[in-house]
Amino acid sequence: MSKTIKTGVSFPEDLLRSFDKVIEELGIESRSKAIQEAIRAFISMNAWRLSDEEVAGVLLVHYSHEEHKIDEKLIDVQHEFLDIIPSMMHLHLSGSDCLQIIAVKGKASRVKKLAQKLRETGKIKQLSHLVLPVY
Ligand code: NI
Repeated sequence: MSKTIKTGVSFPEDLLRSFDKVIEELGIESRSKAIQEAIRAFISMNAWRLSDEEVAGVLLVHYSHEEHKIDEKLIDVQHEFLDIIPSMMHLHLSGSDCLQIIAVKGKASRVKKLAQKLRETGKIKQLSHLVLPVY
């Protein structure tokens, strides 16, 4: 374990209050431990974007299937990325809305390219991700 460095951080009061409520709810023993955990989560959530390491995770695509040919376009894009998509799940959310949960595993640059191509298919309501570096 590396050595611990003490540092000071400024917070808006309401942010710190909300943070403390979550810490209490989760039963984390100290604010320092919770901040360390939050920073690790932040790094994991975003670090994959900075390198071209192997990553794994999911992309979430929320869209309305009533948009012209969007289902077909989303599937066409995924067929171009067979090398990094081991699986996909389709949830019918309502009469019109769908959520695709696209599992991904491969080089970060390929996953970024896939996300970009999905975004370019048309009127997606939301595109989100949970992608982690895998060592
Ligand atoms: Ni559907």
